[in-house]
Amino acid sequence: MKYTITTPLYYVNDKPHLGSSYTTIACDALARFHRLNGNSVLFLTGVDEHGQKIERTANAKNISPQIHCDEITEKYKYLWDKLNISYDRFIRTTAPEHSLLVHKFYSKVLESGDVYMGRQSGWYCVGCEEYKDVEENNISPSCSIHKKELEWRDEENLFFRLSKYQKDIEKLIQIEGFISPKSRRNEIINFVSKGLRDFSISRVNLKWGINVPGNEEHTFYVWFDALLGYVSGSLLDQRSPELTDNSLTYWPVNIHVIGKDILRFHAVYWPAMLLSAGMKPPLSVLGHGFLTREGQKMGKSLGNVLDPLELIEHSGIDAMRWYLLRDIEFGDDGDFQMRRFVDIVNSDLSNTIGNLLNRTITMSKKWFNDNIPIENPSLIESKLKGISEIKINEYINSFKENNFKNSASAIIDFANNANLYLNDRAPWKLIKDISNKEIVAQDIYSVLESCRLIGVLLHPLVPDLSKRILNQLRIDSSSITFENSLKWGLLDPHNGLEDPSPVMDKIEYTDKSN
Ligand code: MSP
Repeated sequence: MKYTITTPLYYVNDKPHLGSSYTTIACDALARFHRLNGNSVLFLTGVDEHGQKIERTANAKNISPQIHCDEITEKYKYLWDKLNISYDRFIRTTAPEHSLLVHKFYSKVLESGDVYMGRQSGWYCVGCEEYKDVEENNISPSCSIHKKELEWRDEENLFFRLSKYQKDIEKLIQIEGFISPKSRRNEIINFVSKGLRDFSISRVNLKWGINVPGNEEHTFYVWFDALLGYVSGSLLDQRSPELTDNSLTYWPVNIHVIGKDILRFHAVYWPAMLLSAGMKPPLSVLGHGFLTREGQKMGKSLGNVLDPLELIEHSGIDAMRWYLLRDIEFGDDGDFQMRRFVDIVNSDLSNTIGNLLNRTITMSKKWFNDNIPIENPSLIESKLKGISEIKINEYINSFKENNFKNSASAIIDFANNANLYLNDRAPWKLIKDISNKEIVAQDIYSVLESCRLIGVLLHPLVPDLSKRILNQLRIDSSSITFENSLKWGLLDPHNGLEDPSPVMDKIEYTDKSN
């Protein structure tokens, strides 16, 4: 089955921070999960490069917007590579092909009679690139997200007839699973029930944008242009943007993963734009919470960001990915705390998983000389076999609900059980009597087999650590799928083991990043 997944296209007003990394890591985990599950995945990410926010940032640096965009885009790509993000395509909205696509799409919307010239006046947040609703008597309103004063605008703009799609959007957002989590769905239902208002899709006096054919003094509103990045990225041939089923084989998008601040754009404006152009809306939109520091949204404009590169330098990629996916309830806000970060990573990855593997390999090599004397591993009646089945189910079901936290918990429960099993059975005592050798072999095998399964299950969340675990068991991680690797008893007892070496070093607490 085809599966298309997208991150938001990040504004290039500044380099990426931990908050932007969070969405991308979550998408990467989903993409890897669906690939292991046998799907043909198209994983899109990229950058949103136009608009006033970017133009102003470049002006302040005294460089051209394009040079500024190129610089920041490189930083995103560099970080995504560092974080081992397995994206298939990286979209840039300044790519010439993207302009062609925007023009093509616009002509479809025009054909539907959904564009008209009007006048827009209101309070605008350049940080959000969005008009805000403000109480009438408020004469100096500010943005609750960016903590900056809003700017008054009054200009002639082209409008998109969003109101025409009221019924369609009402129907769409009622579909079970279209918006998750549930709390966010209610927020959107409430917003839509108040009646959809047409919104402006062009700007005047803004050079840094895609020109509007037929209205040369206008450029497209940055959101109209950016959302279409998803279409650009899905095109089979990006140089000839045909909006047909043949050129869009990965359409519709299965899931747009985004932060809660941009849910309206994705769950309301965007589906309506697609319907207007005769295209299918996305199948689901997942809105996560914010990463906060001391209760405030971590943001480029707010200047309270945690630099992911510093964190990687200090703790490594696995630590960062694990903490974000394991500790934060995906729909909720999560406060980053260094102490908690260090404790969780050390406890889960170094102690519970790393030590389990290390000590079991050590025992196995010492007593069985690389060959565990077992003929039919799948028949071993170990308590761990039953536990593995339960935990694998929990893991898969949670992943299908985009609940990374529960998937990660299922892995840790499984590893805890394997540790308990080892401690209960105490093979180091049993082995003292040579007649127990077969029983000990079965116990050691069961724990190693559990480690293999844990290594596979870890792949979507922490692919590097997963690889190191599987390498220790001499398993080639590049060819695994769930279908060929999640059954009990697949570890070949005669395959041998690498010399034990810690798969996850402990990290030290530092107050530098807190
Ligand atoms: N450019 C638009 C998206 C266009 S998509 C066609 C945009 N860019 S952004 O860079 O401001 O934000 C991108 C994503 O990062 C959003 O989903 C936003 O919610 C997310 N985050 C930004 N700061 C964040 C945190 N502190 N925590 C979690 N996610 C955060 O909006």
